[in-house]
Amino acid sequence: MSKLPLKNESNSKVYPTPLPSCDLKNVHVISHPLVQHKLTLMRKIETRTSEFRALLYELSQLMAYEITRDMAVHMEEIQTPLEQLMSPVINGKKLVFVSILRAGNGILDGVLSVVPSARVGHIGLYRDPTTLEAIEYYFKMPTQMEQRDVIVVDPMLATGHTAIAAVDRLKGLSPKSIKFLSLITCPEGIKALHDRHPEVPIYTACVDRELNEHGYILPGLGDAGDRIYGTK
Ligand code: URA
Repeated sequence: MSKLPLKNESNSKVYPTPLPSCDLKNVHVISHPLVQHKLTLMRKIETRTSEFRALLYELSQLMAYEITRDMAVHMEEIQTPLEQLMSPVINGKKLVFVSILRAGNGILDGVLSVVPSARVGHIGLYRDPTTLEAIEYYFKMPTQMEQRDVIVVDPMLATGHTAIAAVDRLKGLSPKSIKFLSLITCPEGIKALHDRHPEVPIYTACVDRELNEHGYILPGLGDAGDRIYGTK
């Protein structure tokens, strides 16, 4: 894979830019300056655990706002202190945020602060260090998944193996819809997830340059789980 120059002539303010060969169909890059600024702070090696966690909380709130933009609403008649009016209310069964353990949990507090009535599911998947394949060790979902919209959360969409395994498993429960929310993605992860599940929209703050041979995103921010929890 060819490397991008540090400066992209067509838009020198945005780095890292998507590779020209990266298909961004059904990928929503959230380019809001607040999102981009906070992501820059999170990437810095000197950003400490407490600050990293706080930034992830704020970023998750902002990204939740974008990913829920198309939620269906219906009108209900209400009474204000002055008048009656028809006013919008979100439709249907409660949304489910599905966290891919453990780094996905870092996103939960922020998204739940924006959608407090949402339900939460957890999937435990670890990457086999040699094959990088996803192995499931935990799976717990709310009831009536077939009536719910699902947003899967994981800070990094890297090889795509865990994302694919999570979506495969969730499709077995026939939810109404599935979206994928990742702070940082890369062309390899997007391609892998969309080769298998092209209809799953990916929401991300940035499409980084590439994966390294250990399955880490470059330039990325390092190991998201370690940076959230202060482990090594
Ligand atoms: N998981 C991480 O935490 N970081 C990466 O760069 C890739 C996968």
